[in-house]
Amino acid sequence: MKRINRIYEITKNEGIIKMIKINTLFLASIVALFLTNASAEELETKALTSHLKCACGKKNGITETTFAMIKPEAVQAGTTGDIIKQIELNGFKIKDIIKKSLTREDAEQFYKEHKDKPFFRNLVTYMTSGPAILLALEKENAVSDWRKLMGSTDATKADVGTLRKMFGKSMQENAVHGSANLEDAKNELAFLALQMNALNHNIVKKI
Ligand code: CMP
Repeated sequence: MKRINRIYEITKNEGIIKMIKINTLFLASIVALFLTNASAEELETKALTSHLKCACGKKNGITETTFAMIKPEAVQAGTTGDIIKQIELNGFKIKDIIKKSLTREDAEQFYKEHKDKPFFRNLVTYMTSGPAILLALEKENAVSDWRKLMGSTDATKADVGTLRKMFGKSMQENAVHGSANLEDAKNELAFLALQMNALNHNIVKKI
């Protein structure tokens, strides 16, 4: 009888051990599942965070192209190189650049929004007085950053460190031009494309 009891005890213990083993395994799989889920969640959060960071980066710094011009009096004064140096030092990439004398029709077309202003005729005469440098500039926030770098329209009132302060003379002779906004940039870059085509056409004709 004792022997039977002993065998029963052993079998019972083995059963308990087996049960413990099974339960441990079960627990382990639940923990593993939990851990897997947690890390998936973690990954998802990381992905979302990096997406948000990416969107923020884009919001703060959309790469734009703006139109810029070095006006005839600044070209005449021999400051083209100095202005281009400032353009590059301030992080703008020059995508296109040409030197060209604008015709009266070009200048009238380019400044058509000012056609009713008292200074319009003088402005057209000034803008056709010699060659200008026409540029397409690329940078994050190029439109507003280029306007900041140019400074206020009236060169005599422009802030220290701006191009108009450094190279401009007056309200009219203010050394540089830049698009006012993205819509203007689109139109003025189209104007640049036309000027480049005309220039290429003239070069081909001369060859
Ligand atoms: P810009 O930024 O190229 O845009 C229009 C231009 O007209 C301006 O620079 C000046 O050269 C010129 N301009 C603007 N206001 C006046 C003004 N009151 N008198 C003379 N010229 C002006």
